[in-house]
Parts: sequence; structure tokens; C-alpha cells
Amino acid sequence: MRLYSILSCAIALGVAAASSPPTAGIEALVQRRLPQHAGAFEFRIVNATAIGEIDSYTVSTPRNGKVQVEGNSLSALATGLHRYLVDVAHVDIYWYIGNRLDLVSKLPHLSAPLTSSSIVPYRYHFNTVTTSYTSAFWTWEDWELQLDWMALRGINLPLAWIGVEKIFTEIFQEIGLTDNEILDFLSGPAFLAWNHFGNIQGSWGGSLPFSWIDSQFELQKKIVRRMVELGMTPILPAFPGFVPRAISRVFPDVSIVNGSTWEAFPTAYTDDTFMDPLDPRFTQLQKSFIAKQTAAYGNVTKFYTLDQFNENNPFSGDTDYLRNVSRGNWQALKAADTNAIWVMQGWLFTSNSAFWTNSRIEAYLGGVSVDEDMLILDLASESQPQWQRTNSYYGKPWVWCEIHGYGGNMGLYGQIMNITENPIAALHNSTSLVGFGLSMEGQEGNEIVYDLLLDQAWTETPIDTEAYFHDWVTARYAGSNSIPDEIYTAWDTLRTTVYNNTNLTSNAVPKSILELIPSTTGLLNRTGHHPTTINYNPDDMVRAWDLFYAAGFRNPALWFNPAYDFDLVDMSRQVLANAFIPIYQDLITAYNTSSSAQRASSVRTIGAKLISLLYSLDAVLQSNPHFRLSTWLSAARSSSPTKTAQDFLEYEARNQITLWGPTGQISDYASKSWAGLVSSYYIPRWQKFVEYLATTEPAEYNQQTFQKGLLEWELQWQNNTSAGKADEKTVTSIQNVLPGVIKQWEEVFSF
Ligand SMILES: *[C@@H]1O[C@H](CO)[C@@H](O)[C@H](O)[C@H]1NC(C)=O
Ligand SMILES: *[C@@H]1O[C@H](CO)[C@@H](O)[C@H](O)[C@H]1NC(C)=O
Ligand SMILES: *[C@@H]1O[C@H](CO)[C@@H](O)[C@H](O)[C@H]1NC(C)=O
Ligand SMILES: *[C@@H]1O[C@H](CO)[C@@H](O)[C@H](O)[C@H]1NC(C)=O
Ligand SMILES: *[C@@H]1O[C@H](CO)[C@@H](O)[C@H](O)[C@H]1NC(C)=O
Ligand SMILES: *[C@@H]1O[C@H](CO)[C@@H](O)[C@H](O)[C@H]1NC(C)=O
Ligand SMILES: *[C@@H]1O[C@H](CO)[C@@H](O)[C@H](O)[C@H]1NC(C)=O
Ligand SMILES: *[C@@H]1O[C@H](CO)[C@@H](O)[C@H](O)[C@H]1NC(C)=O
Ligand SMILES: *[C@@H]1O[C@H](CO)[C@@H](O)[C@H](O)[C@H]1NC(C)=O
Ligand SMILES: *[C@@H]1O[C@H](CO)[C@@H](O)[C@H](O)[C@H]1NC(C)=O
Ligand SMILES: *[C@@H]1O[C@H](CO)[C@@H](O)[C@H](O)[C@H]1NC(C)=O
Ligand SMILES: *[C@@H]1O[C@H](CO)[C@@H](O)[C@H](O)[C@H]1NC(C)=O
Repeated sequence: MRLYSILSCAIALGVAAASSPPTAGIEALVQRRLPQHAGAFEFRIVNATAIGEIDSYTVSTPRNGKVQVEGNSLSALATGLHRYLVDVAHVDIYWYIGNRLDLVSKLPHLSAPLTSSSIVPYRYHFNTVTTSYTSAFWTWEDWELQLDWMALRGINLPLAWIGVEKIFTEIFQEIGLTDNEILDFLSGPAFLAWNHFGNIQGSWGGSLPFSWIDSQFELQKKIVRRMVELGMTPILPAFPGFVPRAISRVFPDVSIVNGSTWEAFPTAYTDDTFMDPLDPRFTQLQKSFIAKQTAAYGNVTKFYTLDQFNENNPFSGDTDYLRNVSRGNWQALKAADTNAIWVMQGWLFTSNSAFWTNSRIEAYLGGVSVDEDMLILDLASESQPQWQRTNSYYGKPWVWCEIHGYGGNMGLYGQIMNITENPIAALHNSTSLVGFGLSMEGQEGNEIVYDLLLDQAWTETPIDTEAYFHDWVTARYAGSNSIPDEIYTAWDTLRTTVYNNTNLTSNAVPKSILELIPSTTGLLNRTGHHPTTINYNPDDMVRAWDLFYAAGFRNPALWFNPAYDFDLVDMSRQVLANAFIPIYQDLITAYNTSSSAQRASSVRTIGAKLISLLYSLDAVLQSNPHFRLSTWLSAARSSSPTKTAQDFLEYEARNQITLWGPTGQISDYASKSWAGLVSSYYIPRWQKFVEYLATTEPAEYNQQTFQKGLLEWELQWQNNTSAGKADEKTVTSIQNVLPGVIKQWEEVFSF
């Protein structure tokens, strides 16, 4: 018997009984996204199942003219609806591009019913840090789009972190901590995820505004309600044990330890205080936390996300200690909710594999003696899986997750073989594998490889990617009447090159070196999580882009197609980023090999070319709002209900994507190729570098000296709330930008 059938007995129905018909949420989705066909669908739940069981659907078009969607859960209905819309009507809904479902004029008739069953009970979505890298400043409208996207793609188990500061604040106030003591602990709006992990505490550049906490809490109420309406069981936060330092003022004898230092942050902002889960006050806080959450959102879930040692080393490696901590955790959670299931990211076992030996992992997981009370997210299954070495987490149920990228970096990238073949192999090999999911740090693009894994959750054998890409393209550019062959060829070229990385020394979305602090060394050929290697022939990228661009001339309707526009900008971005590399190499070679008499002038000449390429990139990015710094900054500003907090929110938004910390603790980790960021941040950095090279003998070159001067300027940029306005210049469409860019750089693109 597979584990999920055991689980299904243990897990009670997570969806709150509502007075409206059970399918109202999915009907409302149709009303929102394809209103002209609102009456044309008939949804029916047959043989209802609870979360934790296999979902099945049947879509048919009987004679009454309606499209009939039957399934055993709301998630099954949403997935069936999606299958029909994508495969038969050839329309979809996308990140960035938004809703394209309403392009269907006539609903196609089916000659035979569409039917399918999930091969895993859970389809999971989000990484704790996605809520900072991607959705930190989202509006309700952004969330609505995201939640419809998720429901249609069959996701039934998403993280739901928003607004939790309200709960934290209340439980801390309840035990007598003052607002200032609490604010010393809470991090800023762009950095909450790492506060949730206990990596950081407190806020630099300003304090988290209480008004912002309240507005996020109101947002979360809507998010959770909508998740439930759409058949998703939210994974809500639980109290993880991180507390304000002033805890010992109110609990003088409390059992606490100082957590570890994270990423060289100054002590004021890290070394979070961790309360021992065996301390009776831990259970008191956990109960209060869960009770407040249930009061706010209803009895909507049994799933709680709880990470204590994510990039934090436990106070002790003693296996008894580790077992005690997790047992204390588990018992406190069960005291708060008898049905609780503890969801944990397995990232710690990857990121600190030196600490987390198998015996420590076994001890920590073993503290929870009922396996079904935990659910482990194997966070980077496509590149750094941990389930094999831990013998499937010693029997704990687990989810095969695709992490794909870090910090919302923006390279085109995929591992199409691994995300189709490996989850199926894992399912045959591990009886406690109960779900597939997406755990990207940021929803950065590359949507096709996220869709691919979610569809794999309903397909028993590895998906044939050639046919999959073809069908995906057909739906992607819907609304253009015909899709020129060049587009199919372009995407198939990308499929076998850019999207087929198999060299796992570089195992995630690549970063463009133009986004890094300039240096004569160390930029190229980086491997790991932020690789700068290009694991394909750059000429293939140019070829795909050239074909894709040609399609616009073949079918000019494409110029007005938002999906085509977005993808053309994204591909142009990648081509220009790749073209930057040989110019950079020329610059360094010229610097190293020129005679002293020639050096300054040859460095300045090549430097000018490098800067000019960056201006071309900025112009390309400027043509689409999703590639603009101003979009991110104005979202940050408008996320605040009070005007006074807006400059701080903009500072937060700027700091996350650049210095990431008060003085550049993890500088450029979450870098972006965005118009306005290229022109106001990366270009000045490269200009300063070129000038430094032109005026410094190679023997005198000192990277630290250069960076020290640079940092002063970078710190000013954080506060320069007028810089975002710089990219509010006239917007030219990509159609009008590209001819000039191509003319200028033809020789560099080499085609
Ligand atoms: C929450 O709902 C579940 C499933 O319906 C039920 O078993 C449980 O008793 C409820 N919990 C509370 C506190 O009402
Ligand atoms: C519902 O369950 C019954 C009893 O197991 C079965 O006969 C019937 O075929 C099921 N209906 C659907 C639509 O799956
Ligand atoms: C934790 O570290 C902070 C900062 O260094 C210090 O003030 C505090 O006393 C430490 N607490 C414990 C329990 O060691
Ligand atoms: C673990 O908990 C047990 C029982 O509460 C206790 O006796 C033991 O000292 C603890 N061990 C460690 C290392 O904390
Ligand atoms: C199957 O599982 C075993 C035990 O966990 C592991 O040693 C082995 O590598 C796995 N095989 C594959 C193909 O993942
Ligand atoms: C991906 O690359 C691998 C290794 O080079 C190769 O064996 C495989 O055929 C490629 N797959 C596709 C779909 O291009
Ligand atoms: C898939 O990932 C595993 C690591 O889990 C690696 O060993 C294997 O080589 C990868 N396969 C491909 C085709 O990339
Ligand atoms: C994989 O990438 C690394 C680092 O770029 C490189 O050294 C190695 O040769 C590559 N391996 C293969 C098989 O291409
Ligand atoms: C490093 O990258 C550059 C540019 O991509 C390439 O020309 C060079 O061969 C690489 N060097 C090594 C050692 O891989
Ligand atoms: C340029 O010189 C630096 C410093 O001497 C050296 O580290 C680097 O490898 C050289 N690079 C090239 C491309 O010659
Ligand atoms: C930026 O603003 C913050 C908060 O007002 C201030 O503390 C800091 O000194 C400013 N930094 C610079 C470089 O102006
Ligand atoms: C602020 O940014 C604007 C626009 O990029 C720039 O013109 C100005 O010089 C910057 N000011 C400072 C103090 O850096």
C-alpha cells in the first residue's frame, strides 16, 4: 500500500464547510477569467476525496452544449478545466502576461472525454523566500492572478506566509514585550522570509511599519479564503521558536540559545535568539499562535510550515539534543492542533551537509515518532536531492521539488530531462514520495519548465518534451491567428540547448556577469547556484532569438501579443547578456597586455563599447514594464497604506536587489536585469571600473580598494529615491528598439 492511502485516513478534510455550493470557487474563477463562457461549464464533484488522496477528473462535451467537468476534488476540477483550455482550446494564463483564457471565442467540442488522475496526492508551491523575492509587494490583484494560475495547474498545497507578523506581534505583546522590543526583532518588508527562518532579525534603514503589518494581514485573509475556495489547502506558519532578545526580561528563567551567525551579518541583525522547544513557554506560545491564526482564517488546514535550522546551525550536534528539539516541536504543535502536520524544507541537509550527517538527520526526524505527522520538502530534487542519502527521509512523507533558480535571477535555463525522468524514477523507488512541487526562490520566468513538472504530476511516464514544447507554444501565443513555424523551431532549439542542462556543476538559473561587481578576475565560469557559465553554445541562443524575431515579420499580429513581446524581450536580454562576455574579456586582455602608453586609451575605447552595450540592453528592457526597476519600486511604494513609510519601502526594494544587507552582506545575490537598474546601478559601476583600470597600473590593481570606493556610491544609491524616476522616460516598443540594437551589434551577435 502506498503511503498516501495511509495518509488519507489520517488527514481529515481540510476545506471548511461553506454554505455556498462546493464548486462556487471554481465557477467564480471561470467568471473572472473567461466571463463570456461563464454559463457554458458545468462542474460536479463526484465521490469527493480529502486532500491527501489521488485526484481524478473527466471533461466531456455532451449534447446539452455545456462543457462538463467532473472530478473528485476542487483541485481535480480546476486541473481538468485547465487541460481542456490548454490542450483543446489552446489558451492559458501566465505569470507576467496574465490572463489569456478569455481569447476563446467558441468552446471546442470533444470527440472523446478527457480524463486523468494525479500520480501523487500533493502538488506543492512556493519557497519561503519566494514571498520576499517575488511577492513582497504584491497587490490583491497580483495574488488573484497567481492563485488562479496555481489552481488551474493543479496545485493543492501552497505555502501561505503573508501577514504573519500580525500573529507574531500579538503573541509577543501577550507575554508583555513592548512594541520596540518586538520591532528590534522583526525585519523589513523585503527581508521577512529570512526573519521567518531565524537567519536575521531587526531591520536596517528603518523599522517595519505596523500599518504595513496590518495591511498584509488583511491581504492574507483574502489569500487564504481564495485558496480554500479554489481547492488548495494552505500551509500556514507555526511558531518556530525565534523570539526578541528581550524575551528574558519577561521570562527571566526561559531556556534560550543564541542562534548562529548568518552570512557575516553584524550581530545586531543575526544570531537570533532561539527558545528551547522543551521549555513549557514554547508550547504556550505555539498554542496562542495557532489559536490566533485559526480565529483569523478559520479551521482551514492541518499543515504548518516550521523551519528552525535552515542555514542556521543548531546549538549542539548532539543527537539527543536534536531529537529532543524536534520532539518538543512536534508535541507543542500537536498540543495546538491535534491534527497538525509539520512541513519542513529539507534545504538544510543540502546547504549544510557537513553538519547534517545521516545520524543527525535521523535523530532530528526521529524525534517525530509518527511519520505521517511530518512532510519534508526535498527542495532541490533536480540537482541536489537528499532523499536517496537519507533513505527517503527515514520514512517521512516527502515532496519532490524543483528549485530551479536562486534570488530571482533572470537567465534562461532548464533541466528538462531531470524534471521529467527523475521524479518518475523517484516515485518508483520511494514509497514515501507523496508530491511534486515548485520551490523556486523567485518566480523569475522560464515558465515552461515549471509547467512541465506540474504536468508531470498527472503523467505516469516521463513527458515527451518535444511534443510538450510544441503544444505549450501553441497555447502561449494564442490570439495571433497563426503561429509561424519559426516560433516552434526557436523553442525547439531552446529545448535541446538552453533548457537541457545536464552538467550539474552549474545547476540553476545563470546570472549575467554584468550584474556583478566588476573585477579583472572571478566573474566568468562560476559554477553552483548562481553560475555564470553558459552550458550551451551561445550561437544556439542567437539562432533561436533570430528565428523568434523573424516570426514577428511573418505574422505582424505578434507585435501586439503580450506573450510574444515578453519572450522577445527576454530572449534579447539573454543574447545581449551573452554578448557582454567577449567584450569584457577584450577589456581585461587589453588592460593586462597593453603597453603603459596605450593602456588608458585602449581600456577607454573597449570600455565605451561595453557601456554602450549596456545602454542597448537598458533600452530593450525598458520596452516592457516587467523588465523595469520602476515597476518593482512603485509596487513597493504603493504597498504602504501610509505615505510616510514609502521612502523606507523603496529603500527596502532597492536594497534587496543590490546590497542585500546594510552594507552589502550578500551583494548582488538577488540581482536583476531590469531597465533603470542597468542604467542607474550597473552602468555607473562599470564606468567606475573602466576609469579605475585606465588610471591604475596592473601592478597597483587592488580589488579591495576599488570596491571600497564603490561601496560608498552603492550606499548612496540605496537612498536615492529619485533614481527610479529616471526610467520613466519615453517607452519605445521592442519592435522599434531592436532594429537599431541589431544594426549596432550585428558583428558581436555573429550571425
Ligand atoms: C478542524 O476541522 C477538522 C476536519 O474537519 C476537524 O477534525 C477538527 O476537529 C477541526 N478543528 C477544530 C479546532 O475545530
Ligand atoms: C463513484 O464511486 C462509485 C462507488 O465506488 C463508483 O461506482 C462510481 O463509478 C464512482 N463514480 C465516478 C464518477 O468515479
Ligand atoms: C546573544 O547575543 C547577543 C548579542 O551578542 C547578546 O547580547 C546576548 O547576551 C546573547 N544571548 C545569549 C543567551 O547568549
Ligand atoms: C533530552 O531530553 C531528555 C528527556 O527530557 C533529557 O533527559 C535529556 O537530558 C535531554 N538531552 C539533551 C542532550 O538535551
Ligand atoms: C533508490 O533508493 C535507494 C535507497 O534510498 C537509493 O540508494 C538509490 O540510489 C535510489 N535509486 C535511484 C535511481 O534514485
Ligand atoms: C540533453 O543533453 C543530453 C546530454 O548531452 C543528451 O543526451 C540528451 O539527448 C539531450 N536531450 C534533449 C532533449 O536534447
Ligand atoms: C539529474 O540529477 C541527478 C542528481 O540528482 C544527477 O545525478 C543526474 O546526472 C542528472 N541527470 C541529468 C540528465 O541531468
Ligand atoms: C561541466 O562544467 C564544468 C564547469 O564549467 C566543466 O569543467 C566540465 O568540463 C563540464 N563537464 C562536461 C561533461 O561538460
Ligand atoms: C571561461 O568562460 C569563457 C567565456 O565563456 C570561456 O571562453 C573560457 O573558455 C572559459 N574557461 C574555462 C577554463 O572554462
Ligand atoms: C589579467 O591580470 C590579472 C591580474 O594580474 C590576472 O589575474 C588575470 O587572470 C588576467 N586576465 C587575463 C584575461 O589576462
Ligand atoms: C540612507 O538613509 C538612512 C536612513 O535615513 C541613513 O541612516 C543613512 O545614513 C543614509 N545613507 C546614505 C549613504 O546616505
Ligand atoms: C540619484 O539618481 C539619479 C538618477 O539616476 C542621478 O541622476 C543622481 O545623480 C543620483 N543622486 C545621487 C546622490 O546619487
